[in-house]
Amino acid sequence: MNFHIVSIFPHYFESPLSAGLMGKGVESGLVAFDHIDVRHFAGGIHKSVDDRPFGGGPGMLLKLDPMVKALSSIASPGRILMLSPRGAPLTQDRVRELAREEDITLICGRYEGIDERLLDLFPIELVSVGDFVLNGGEAGAVCLIEAVARLLPGFMGHADSGEDESFSSGLLEYPHFTRPDVFEGLAVPEVLRTGDHARIEQWRRHCSLEATLRQRPDLLPQARLTVEDVDHLRSLRRSRPGRNLYIALVHYPVLNKFGEKVAVSVTNLDLHDLARLARTYGLGGFYVVTPIEDQKTLAGQILAHWREGAGKAVNPDRAEALSTVSVFDDVDAAVLDIEAQTGQCPRLAATSARLDRAPGAEPALTYGNVRKWLEESPVLLVFGTGHGLASEVLEKAEGTLRPIRYMDDYNHLSVRSAVAITIDRLMMDE
Ligand SMILES: C[S@@+](CC[C@H](N)C(=O)[O-])C[C@H]1O[C@@H](n2cnc3c(N)ncnc32)[C@H](O)[C@@H]1O
Repeated sequence: MNFHIVSIFPHYFESPLSAGLMGKGVESGLVAFDHIDVRHFAGGIHKSVDDRPFGGGPGMLLKLDPMVKALSSIASPGRILMLSPRGAPLTQDRVRELAREEDITLICGRYEGIDERLLDLFPIELVSVGDFVLNGGEAGAVCLIEAVARLLPGFMGHADSGEDESFSSGLLEYPHFTRPDVFEGLAVPEVLRTGDHARIEQWRRHCSLEATLRQRPDLLPQARLTVEDVDHLRSLRRSRPGRNLYIALVHYPVLNKFGEKVAVSVTNLDLHDLARLARTYGLGGFYVVTPIEDQKTLAGQILAHWREGAGKAVNPDRAEALSTVSVFDDVDAAVLDIEAQTGQCPRLAATSARLDRAPGAEPALTYGNVRKWLEESPVLLVFGTGHGLASEVLEKAEGTLRPIRYMDDYNHLSVRSAVAITIDRLMMDE
């Protein structure tokens, strides 16, 4: 495989591309590097490659002309990738795909980056090595080259090594140990010394699952999980941020479609669906908020039927779900109840289908903001029936969560759907 590296610092690569397996790969002809020094293509006595950005701002940019000449000098560039924090993240899947190419050209940026028009002139794919900013693309190029080269047949000697590693099966890798078997009192796990390959394989799989759940739960949705894997995951202790999260469904004061303050009646459907949601996600509790006496009576009758009456006898699961529900006059009373239960005053987040467009309005809360709160204190997330919460409730909250589908023009969800989507986004179990 041929890597064509376009950079203003070709000497940067001298050591990383000649050491260890990479050096052997070059010797055996498996990989070849061709360095294109952008400075050779710069004009003027100073061979200057950079210039100030239009529109002002800090730093300098790599100029178009030398970059274009440098790229055009490559006879067969193959796929052209530019290292950039704005690129799509480099993943093992992308690496596997790149390992099938004959030629790859890597453009290494420096300073504040490169004149954007380069992307109009060449079919360039942007690739990032992580959500952080480096001084230049060279370090990123080395990451990409190493990841791709080690998948080339023959590069690592041992044919399987590239297939039994982190990400190859969608999970992180299990831990490794070598001699001595006891070091300063720390023993190698017994199972690894039994010679029982089936048990070792199972132990390693369990370790992979545990490491992925602990460090990178975001990988689990894409991983191929067997029934045994799922059973193992279920048996593990997990942190449950849901316990700190409480929801309130406000029936008064809410708005009608004319923007007037009204009361909305309690519905059987909301009680059941949100109680089941609260139980499924292990939430701290679900508050039904209405100050209207006959509505409280109605809610009480529904709850009594399922929690104690005939409903419980027929469907004990439903009784369990409805045990999460309490009925209170207003949000303040729900806050006091949470404080009494937990010893901590909950932080209050409101929800709305409308983005606050008032001049100078605070940016909406993100799911990340609320997830952070949940690590430290109980949170009461307040939802409105009708056409949404009245301003007096919104004003009580520290902020309002960004609406679901805020980038689209239609987001009229039922409150049950909105609560379900919001809770799932917040919990992100996987
Ligand atoms: C100082 S950075 C420029 C950062 C740029 N102003 C920005 O904020 O997106 C200079 C060069 O380093 C490289 N670089 C920096 N961080 C990177 C990352 N996370 N992944 C890939 N390349 C990166 C790119 O080639 C970039 O053009």
